[in-house]
Amino acid sequence: MALSPQFLDELKHRFTLSDVVGRQVKLVHRGREHSGLCPFHSEKSPSFTVNDQKGFYHCFGCGAHGSVIDFVMNTQGMEFMEAIEVLAGEVGMEVPKPSREQVERDKKRGTLSEVMEVVTNWYMAQLKGQVGRAAYDYIKGRGLTDETLKRFQLGYAPASRTALKDAMLARNIGEDQLIETGMLIKPEGGGASYDRFRDRLMFPITDRQGRVIAFGGRALSKDAKAKYLNSPETPIFHKGATLYNWANARAASYDAGQVMVVEGYMDVIALAQYGIDYAVAPLGTALTEEQISHLWQMADEPILSFDGDNAGLRAASRAVERALPMLKAGKSLRFIIMPEGEDPDSLVQKEGRQAIETLIDSASPLVNVLWNNLTGGVASDTPERRAGLEKKIFGALSEIEDENVKKLYQSEFRSRLWDLFKPAKAKGQQTRGQSAFVPSRNAGGFKRRPPPATGLLGQTSIGRSRGIGPVTDRMEKVIILTLVHHPEIMIKHEEEVAHLEFSVPGLDGIRNALLEKAALAERLDHEAILTHLEGKAEMVTLTKLLGERALRDDWFAWDDAALSDALTGFEHTVSRFQHITAAHAAYVQAEADYAADMTDENHARFVAAQEAYRALEEKVADKEGYRLESGRFSFN
Ligand code: UTP
Ligand code: MN
Repeated sequence: MALSPQFLDELKHRFTLSDVVGRQVKLVHRGREHSGLCPFHSEKSPSFTVNDQKGFYHCFGCGAHGSVIDFVMNTQGMEFMEAIEVLAGEVGMEVPKPSREQVERDKKRGTLSEVMEVVTNWYMAQLKGQVGRAAYDYIKGRGLTDETLKRFQLGYAPASRTALKDAMLARNIGEDQLIETGMLIKPEGGGASYDRFRDRLMFPITDRQGRVIAFGGRALSKDAKAKYLNSPETPIFHKGATLYNWANARAASYDAGQVMVVEGYMDVIALAQYGIDYAVAPLGTALTEEQISHLWQMADEPILSFDGDNAGLRAASRAVERALPMLKAGKSLRFIIMPEGEDPDSLVQKEGRQAIETLIDSASPLVNVLWNNLTGGVASDTPERRAGLEKKIFGALSEIEDENVKKLYQSEFRSRLWDLFKPAKAKGQQTRGQSAFVPSRNAGGFKRRPPPATGLLGQTSIGRSRGIGPVTDRMEKVIILTLVHHPEIMIKHEEEVAHLEFSVPGLDGIRNALLEKAALAERLDHEAILTHLEGKAEMVTLTKLLGERALRDDWFAWDDAALSDALTGFEHTVSRFQHITAAHAAYVQAEADYAADMTDENHARFVAAQEAYRALEEKVADKEGYRLESGRFSFN
């Protein structure tokens, strides 16, 4: 019996893999992984790794790999269903039994798809015959080869009310079945059934396994009401749960590590003719959640392509909204917008496969598209408007259900907001004034800069929770204190100050207030800063900082130091801070890469990055020793 993927997922999610493995293997916890001696081969040093987040184990010694179900099967010598029963029993889940109706339905499915196969072959024959002559000329005229027509089983439905019906009845296929599959329409008020598709080019729609379950029909006559007509929902066809070309693309996307979603059937077919076999299309509707889940089984970041017109941009926004609640670690979407007036079909026929691949390579990540949707054309030149924009942004992000992804989006957008709001002067070349606060509206914003290196995936704050805090807290506080006492430093280092990423709560606020003041810059001294902060929430954090005796050791940070000493001290501290933050980010990234793809190579990289960071950490702890070397690090 086939258990649904949903049931298996749910079952796996009920277990923390390391708990189950831990009953038989002594595991040591390290970062996100657990490791221990492999139960599947004999070894002296641990190469067996358990990743709870991904829900699988992997042995670098013998290659054993699998989920909690595999683990139970392989360590207890159980059959699949036996392991399922045991695990389900443990967490009180009921293993679904096939019902009588299910069995009946499966049988019927079989017969209905047999009907569809006969219909497909008949339509194909019509396209090759006399009656399909004009249709054949039309489709050849659109650049498809005979081989492509055969591969996608294109056919022709003649312009007659009963051509299909007559042909099928003559083949002993029941009228009921033809009605049930949507091939015939039975008028509500009685009367004879008739062919649904007439004078149309027929595109068979297959299921995951490649069996025909429905049709899309393209009108050939200019007077047809709809350009495309699709089969209705039937017992074997659920529009929102399937994808055009799913079966072919499944294999191809596995090889390419890539899946692309286009708008039309013709796009899918033309791309395939040019060697891009991993394209699919929804079936005349906007992408559904179910379709997005299917796409994520094919690739981590499916590429969604849309036409460059307004309808296309709106469809892209809708896809972002649909996907937002569903984002998970490692799972996202990327977007491409077709050049004006082109669709993938016309572009690939004009400029070849390379043109499409170039677009794919420069696809915008979802985070950028979302950002541009939310901020595009929105003015943020007054505090109220900025507050409004913030509210809108964080409201949208609250849709993300995965807590970790949500947190990272929030911190990413906080930093982008900071970039957006910070005074024009701090933005480098731009002149001061209102224009700098109003993001420009470009083709839906798709041309905006790529995310910064410390963007969503390289986010340093992941690591903050994992231990860099204590190492850098002191540096952060010293940096802020120095700036508060010697704000003149910002005349030289405003840009760097704007880009520092603080993890100690409250420091961000003080820094922002400092920059605000610096932007107004009639006068930039300690007194002016204090007056500026007076009565603000930031003052509370600052008062606490000023009271921290331990920070006294860094004398240059205080008001009695000479400005030149404060400047040198500041530059050295920032340099060390940036250096260790970068090493830490590299370490966190290497770890994430390893978790995502547990190859030996990634493991080696991870260990190297970890060691590099640990070495720096030690140097920082042993501060004097570190300082001797700090001159080597340039301040940029
Ligand atoms: P397009 O009009 O972009 O289709 O609609 P296309 O594939 O480029 O068609 P050609 O190139 O003119 O032959 C995109 C998709 O929207 C659905 C179909 O699935 C189509 O492939 N559609 C479009 C409908 O369901 N009904 C319509 O009337 C039009
Ligand atoms: Mn088209």
